[in-house]
Amino acid sequence: MCSVVGYIGNQVSRAYILDGLARLEYRGYDSAGFSCFDTEKKQLLCVKAVGGVAQLTAHINEQPINGFSGIGHTRWSTHGTATVENAHPHTDCLQKISLVHNGIIENYLKLKHALLEEGHVFSSQTDSEVIAHLLEHELKRADLVQSTCALVAQLEGAYAVACLLEQYPDTLLLIRHKSPLCIGISSHGMFAGSDPLAFAGHVQEIVYMPEASFAIIKKNGLELYNFAGQRLDVIKQSYTAAWEADGKRGHEHYMLKEIYEQKRVIQTVVQNFRTRFAQTWNLALSPEQIKALASIQFIAAGTSWHAAYIAQFFIESIAQMPVRVHLASEFRSLPFFSELNTVFIAISQSGETADTLESIRFLPKSVHTIALTNTPLSSLVRETNGAILMDAGTEIAVASTKAFTAQIASLYLLAHYIAHQKQIITNQALDQAEIDLLLVSEILESLIERYKQEIISTWAPRYASYKQAIFLGRHISYPFAREAALKLKEITYIFTDSYPAGELKHGSIALIDSSTPVFIFSVLDPDVYKKLLSNAQEVKARSGHLVVFAFEGQEELIALADCVFIIPVVKPLLGVLAMTGLMQFLVYHIARELKRPIDKPRNLAKSVTVE
Ligand code: M6R
Repeated sequence: MCSVVGYIGNQVSRAYILDGLARLEYRGYDSAGFSCFDTEKKQLLCVKAVGGVAQLTAHINEQPINGFSGIGHTRWSTHGTATVENAHPHTDCLQKISLVHNGIIENYLKLKHALLEEGHVFSSQTDSEVIAHLLEHELKRADLVQSTCALVAQLEGAYAVACLLEQYPDTLLLIRHKSPLCIGISSHGMFAGSDPLAFAGHVQEIVYMPEASFAIIKKNGLELYNFAGQRLDVIKQSYTAAWEADGKRGHEHYMLKEIYEQKRVIQTVVQNFRTRFAQTWNLALSPEQIKALASIQFIAAGTSWHAAYIAQFFIESIAQMPVRVHLASEFRSLPFFSELNTVFIAISQSGETADTLESIRFLPKSVHTIALTNTPLSSLVRETNGAILMDAGTEIAVASTKAFTAQIASLYLLAHYIAHQKQIITNQALDQAEIDLLLVSEILESLIERYKQEIISTWAPRYASYKQAIFLGRHISYPFAREAALKLKEITYIFTDSYPAGELKHGSIALIDSSTPVFIFSVLDPDVYKKLLSNAQEVKARSGHLVVFAFEGQEELIALADCVFIIPVVKPLLGVLAMTGLMQFLVYHIARELKRPIDKPRNLAKSVTVE
């Protein structure tokens, strides 16, 4: 999380930095800051604010500062609360070094104690500030290259750092270890950003900083070094992506706009699958390797983890091979057993989730890895063997909606693709999978239209008044219930929990009372449905309030419901995809009723780049 941006060149930096920060605000919005080198005063200046880029801009307008070099930051708090003191940039004792940091310095307490003993004075509770004081210490003894090497030798953790120094006024120092950082090259200067979006449209070339490297950047050139201080080749790539300030296209929030984009997103996924161009669909596996595949293992976090869990049902029943689903944040703490003919698929909308990336880095190089992501230029794509690019368009709202849908659609097709390559299914069945997805895309959107008024006028106001909610599913609808529970809690702050419906009787049924709505997501498999129906009856027998997503014809379940949404019958494994838009729309309107900041819920960030 957190965003780092920088500029050094012939033009004043402030507008570039503020614009870059606004583009990357999805990475955190607890506080923001800007620092620049004022060439007249020959001094580093700094403005910080609690809140996002709008608050920072207001502060800068009150106390305008500018310079030809500048750095900026938006923060997602890890160490220390969201205060001005803890906002970046951080400085050394004499305010001659100003730096911004994305990542976590894991050994900061030890370093801070040593620096305090030496007499350094700290102004924040952050881990990041130690970097400034350590660099101050090292610069007393050596030049910039040697000092940076000495600095990084002491730091443990992850860091993308942009730094201005009074001693080197014509220099922007960038350091990268595990957290992403890239450099944009334009005719008038050099840019830095945690994400290339920060400078899209302003530059012609890009340099992805290699892992464990630092760059000494002047307005018209750069030198790249490894952590031993050896010069590295600078690999420039053309980067002509334009910045499209997409806007909400008339919707009140990005989340709503993205909910409505899902029909088109499924269509795009199907279209890309049909053409299977290497740009969007490159497993980097030969037909023989696919035939020999014995299992698939997914690694993901949050909503992407729920998508993986749903995909387990696709792959196991369609491609008939075992699947394991790993939570990225847990994966590296568990023993790793190497298996023959297994492929690891990392699912991540952003392609920058630290837990997911670190899990991929943890795997032996001999393991074949594939990224399923919405971000073609992400670290995940660069660090895996193959990639499936979902092409869902930028997702701006923190709560994932269309990316989840794109993941489900892509994974449904992947299951069929593998099954086809293994000659488990016919050409016709492969084509049918595409048709079934297109049908579901229509249903997904039409269900929103069908229930729109009812949700807005009746159900959203009603469910906004509850303090907690329980979500139940069985078989493939259980991971979907988890996703629904996550969606409701993250944007409304209503406490939710989710269970496999059959587990309720093993303890959680004690929570059922009339003040806790229970959301049940049905399934189309008749045997599983029967069992789910019994679970719904158990809830009803305890005066539970039932919100049911049932399929047409499931009359017994429909009759039990206090609130019901009826879903047309689709292919059994696609039932949850058909429900997705409606569930998200309901949750969105509950949050709107509560006047929550829907696109940027408290404490969250879109791209989670800390472990
Ligand atoms: O970018 P990723 O898909 O790797 O992100 C994983 C999670 O952080 C993300 O899905 C998160 O759970 C969303 N806020 C859920 O809406």
